Amino acid sequence: MGTLADIGRATPPRSAPGPGRAASAYEVVALACRAPSVHNTQPWRWRVDGTSLELYADCSRALPAADPRGRNLVLSCGAALHHAEAAARALGWEPTLQRRPDPAEPGLLARIHLADRDPDARETPGAQDPAVVLRAIHERRTDRRRFTSWPVPVSRLERLAAAAVEQGGLSEPIVDVTARFRLELLISRAMSAQEGDERLLAEQRAWIDHSRDDGIPADSVPEMGFGPLAHRSRFSRAARPEVPGPARDLVEASDGVVVIGGPDDSVEAWLRSGEALSALWLLATRTGLSVVPLSQVVEVDETRPALQHDVLGGRLVPHVVLRIGWQEISRSTHRATPRRPLDDVLSP
Ligand SMILES: Cc1cc2nc3c(=O)[nH]c(=O)nc-3n(C[C@H](O)[C@H](O)[C@H](O)COP(=O)(O)O)c2cc1C
Repeated sequence: MGTLADIGRATPPRSAPGPGRAASAYEVVALACRAPSVHNTQPWRWRVDGTSLELYADCSRALPAADPRGRNLVLSCGAALHHAEAAARALGWEPTLQRRPDPAEPGLLARIHLADRDPDARETPGAQDPAVVLRAIHERRTDRRRFTSWPVPVSRLERLAAAAVEQGGLSEPIVDVTARFRLELLISRAMSAQEGDERLLAEQRAWIDHSRDDGIPADSVPEMGFGPLAHRSRFSRAARPEVPGPARDLVEASDGVVVIGGPDDSVEAWLRSGEALSALWLLATRTGLSVVPLSQVVEVDETRPALQHDVLGGRLVPHVVLRIGWQEISRSTHRATPRRPLDDVLSP
């Protein structure tokens, strides 16, 4: 078990660029940084040494009000770790991962070694087309606009949850009517609890249009209650608290819902869940499905155990809930959210 206090102690050593192919290690980092992160905080630092990459949690980018233990921060780093692994494979490397390799360095979340792939080796069964993987990394978005009313077949939700499990997380679609009803009530309760928390709302507002390189651009937040595309999100309510309306509309009846979690609430389990989130999301992107994380119901201390026991029957400790659906095909593509320059995320 660990928390932000433990992982915050690490100071990454300097990056040492190596010759030749090592340039590609930087490409891997650049693609890893396209990963989703809570409030687009991008709470990671990378150290590159030839063909070795190290991923550190950057606790200076933590959200003390919404995420005091660092769950979402580590989930975000886990998503970047899986993006790095997928990108490395797509760029022709054979990556080997070590998670939390050094007990003396709790903020060092993972080390990735990039080996040359044997050109004579047979293609691994089920290996993904590199171009398709790279396209999914570039095209993935958090698109908070309202989904179409076409329900997502249960088999699709099960396939997405299976991708998360294959990546080492625990995951379940919520399809049972009673479980679903309870979940919607809990989401509503979590939103109401956070609406009364001025410190948390101020923190949330601060990350809207935070800078050119991070945070959530205001145009990624759908206006509440205007037009058929409008959909509520934590940001629309926080940004415009003067607009009334039931928080329950956060999830529509036709939306698919999948939960990702782990055996406990530890840094190790969060890292795995972040990787699982990325694997699920890239698969969803490749198959035309849109994903929006809903973390409030996990953030609120009162609703998290209720989700674990009353909705999930204690089978997993929830780390993030995902709303899944189809976006209108004719709709404009959502603009990509910004990312910090590579120099900012590399250890000097
Ligand atoms: C752990 C985690 C939690 C998130 N929680 C929420 C959330 O509660 N509501 C939401 O609208 N977006 C949430 N997001 C999505 C981020 O805001 C989004 O990834 C970020 O703004 C970058 O945008 P992009 O995904 O389009 O690249 C979350 C993302 C992660 C990784």
